[in-house]
Amino acid sequence: MSIRLLRWCALLCFAALLLVANRTTEKVTPRELHRPTATPDRIILTWAGDPSTTQAVTWRTSNTVERAVAQIAVASEGPEFVKQARTAEARSEAMKTDLNEARSYSVEFTGLQPGTAYVYRVGDGENWSEWNQFRTAAAGTAPLEFIYVGDAQNDIYSLWSRLIRQGLRDAPRMQFIVHAGDLVTTSTSDELWGEWHQAAGWINRSVASFPTPGNHEYPQTDGQRVLAPLYRPQFTLPGNGVAGLEETNYYVDIQGVRMISLNSNERQEEQAAWLDKLLGAGHTNRWVVLTFHHPIYSSAKGRDNPKLREMWQPLFDKHKVDLVLTGHDHTYARTNLVGSTVYVVSVSGPKMYVLERNPRMMRAAANTQLFQIVRIDGGTLQYEARTATGALYDAFELRKANKRGSTNKLTNRVPSMPERLDPPPGR
Ligand SMILES: [Fe+2]
Repeated sequence: MSIRLLRWCALLCFAALLLVANRTTEKVTPRELHRPTATPDRIILTWAGDPSTTQAVTWRTSNTVERAVAQIAVASEGPEFVKQARTAEARSEAMKTDLNEARSYSVEFTGLQPGTAYVYRVGDGENWSEWNQFRTAAAGTAPLEFIYVGDAQNDIYSLWSRLIRQGLRDAPRMQFIVHAGDLVTTSTSDELWGEWHQAAGWINRSVASFPTPGNHEYPQTDGQRVLAPLYRPQFTLPGNGVAGLEETNYYVDIQGVRMISLNSNERQEEQAAWLDKLLGAGHTNRWVVLTFHHPIYSSAKGRDNPKLREMWQPLFDKHKVDLVLTGHDHTYARTNLVGSTVYVVSVSGPKMYVLERNPRMMRAAANTQLFQIVRIDGGTLQYEARTATGALYDAFELRKANKRGSTNKLTNRVPSMPERLDPPPGR
């Protein structure tokens, strides 16, 4: 090789090195990452009415979109359903967040056939979501499957995604997801809501959500805790609870199960009176499942809620509520029967507290991300708690002697995995 060629090579190498050295890593800002566009995103199914004949969908776009609609058709084996689709106009609401201005939309499909697969899409005529598929609930009593998760709250996209996706793998026929509050740690942060929607992705487009608000959905505003303004525009939920607590205190009857969300953040006494009436004579559901955020039996140090327990538990006893699903304590604890009720505290996100184990707990865990699968068939309720890897961590069965109002019989099916009791690292 000639000297000249060597010189050229050295020069080229030097230039290449300079280029590499000058390349910096670009961090995409939250504003850019969660920027709304004319293409619908944050699409989520919920119920505002009867799950056997209605289905609500909520989504978001940039505020440049003038007319938003949703289309729906009975699902067909091939693509021919597209020709049968009917169109519904969306209701829209302006959203001003810490990152942007956007619009939120909702449509409630009504007059649907029970136990039937439907496809729907949302958009503006030009920009559309994919056709998403869901199945309406059966009319009357039928086997039911759902999952329940405690606080997602922190590092949602990074560390909660695998948990909720594992939930779908282990309960692929689930009909809805119960979120027991503290969905995000800062409920005024559009970035965190963006993460929450991204983490579950298309699961939320195919399976209904059943959320209840936690204390983190109640930020301090002018010295008072009020429901975050971003909460209600993102969900389309029933307004059948205490007046003023629409979409946070509500119930849905599905396939013989009455699912109730209490809002444990405010006006607890009024909700007690409402619940007493709701569970009195006149409903025919064999099972009653409650969710709210603050536990009746706390599982972490210094977090007992005696007032809430004294106010609400006598009603749960009186009406023989079957299952109470809560969050807030960032640990896991499940009781045996207390009266006729099983109480659960669970956590699905990565934020962990120190467990305070007590003899009331049949099974407990620290430092463990969990989801719970509940399957109800006739007089039997099967419960499983599974870790983020899908490993079975806790299980029991409830049996009803005959009909609603009888005391349940509980059979524990706790697996052999030792209890995970080590405190989270760094505590
Ligand atoms: Fe909480």
